[in-house]
Amino acid sequence: MLSIKEIDQKEFELCYELDSDTISLWTKKQWHSEFNKRGVKVVGIFLKNKIIGTYVVQMIIDEAQINYFSIKQKFRRKAYGSYLMSYLIKECKKLNIKKLLLEVSETNSIADKFYSKFNFFTVGRRKNYYKNGSDAVLKEKKLIK
Ligand SMILES: CC(C)(COP(=O)(O)OP(=O)(O)OC[C@H]1O[C@@H](n2cnc3c(N)ncnc32)[C@H](O)[C@@H]1OP(=O)(O)O)[C@@H](O)C(=O)NCCC(=O)NCCS
Repeated sequence: MLSIKEIDQKEFELCYELDSDTISLWTKKQWHSEFNKRGVKVVGIFLKNKIIGTYVVQMIIDEAQINYFSIKQKFRRKAYGSYLMSYLIKECKKLNIKKLLLEVSETNSIADKFYSKFNFFTVGRRKNYYKNGSDAVLKEKKLIK
């Protein structure tokens, strides 16, 4: 059975383990501190009670920044990412968020296709942003009710 629920700070190791298994973006310490940031919500998608994906979003007034979004490798291309993104958008609309923002590496063409499907548009670029020298592409999606 598929379910989506908010992840409590006490369960931050769930996120760390999922991340280690997927894109290894943050250390344990970084995950822990992410939960302490003002306006942050961490949400997981669970299949038969096992986490298969997660997102981290930070609400700042009427905007929401997606700080993290990933689905475990073996569950990709099965529409779970779309299901989770649709949930994120619905939740943001409920909270009267007007705009969703994110940054993604210019080399991540899969994520680019994924976000295009959800009508995120490129609005800027940070040169040499990542450790490997690639640029970060800034994307946004306007939310209308
Ligand atoms: C990006 C990501 C979340 C997509 O999750 P997913 O569950 O595989 O996505 P879905 O199955 O819902 O696919 C939705 C759309 O994304 C695009 N897409 C997803 N995987 C793709 C692939 N391997 N090749 C090309 N397009 C792809 C397609 O447009 C697809 O729509 P379609 O199936 O109608 O063609 C997943 O690949 C992932 O976790 N990647 C690593 C983390 C990451 O890069 N996160 C984003 C940057 S922080």
